[in-house]
Amino acid sequence: MLEYRIAASILSADFARLGEEVRAVVAAGADLIHFDVMDNHYVPNLTIGPLVCAALKPHASVPVDVHLMVKPVDRIVPDFAKAGASIISFHPEASEHVDRTVALIHEVGCKAGLVFNPATPLDWLDHTLGALDLVLIMSVNPGFGGQSFIPGALRKLAAARSRIDALFARTGRKILLEIDGGVKVENIAEIARAGADTFVAGSAIFGAPDYAGTIGRMRAALASVG
Ligand code: DX5
Ligand code: ZN
Repeated sequence: MLEYRIAASILSADFARLGEEVRAVVAAGADLIHFDVMDNHYVPNLTIGPLVCAALKPHASVPVDVHLMVKPVDRIVPDFAKAGASIISFHPEASEHVDRTVALIHEVGCKAGLVFNPATPLDWLDHTLGALDLVLIMSVNPGFGGQSFIPGALRKLAAARSRIDALFARTGRKILLEIDGGVKVENIAEIARAGADTFVAGSAIFGAPDYAGTIGRMRAALASVG
């Protein structure tokens, strides 16, 4: 049985009270803080960077899961390591040398994730999977919170799950399979059945006042998957 993790995306938190929001969502049961970095270049939106990550780190008693939607990638990686990131994920289209970026993330002491947009093929895993700690499947086009889940992501999750399980059977390497975009209480069980073990949720958690209630309902739905 898979161990499920809920990664709360602070993109939908109240940015005027971010420290408090991080503490509240951790107290409510989030396993990871998902930190969305957008540059108005790789994606059409602009959010938060390493300074905010460092400022929030003391408020986050769970690992910080940094999702880089920036191009280029490498220059900013050590800054996020210093700012307290545990996991750093990036999009292959945003790096000139994907293998080098994965190695750089490891060199600075973080776990490395590769992110797949809805139209990005899983072929990128052919020569990277053995070096990754996390595979992130986007179920929306990156750039904004509050979008609807793209159903095609379920088939892609299943394909990624097969690759991850095959590698585990061969080598014992453990790789997380994360889904990001449009995850709700209502669809989380179906997403888990497709193979995800780590669930990013932003608007679903921060859009309702009772964070613990929402996370609790997500866990109850996951428990029904087994
Ligand atoms: C989108 C971000 C997501 C976003 C998800 O580009 O990567 O992490 O916060 O938000 P929801 O859960 O509202 O779809
Ligand atoms: Zn994200």
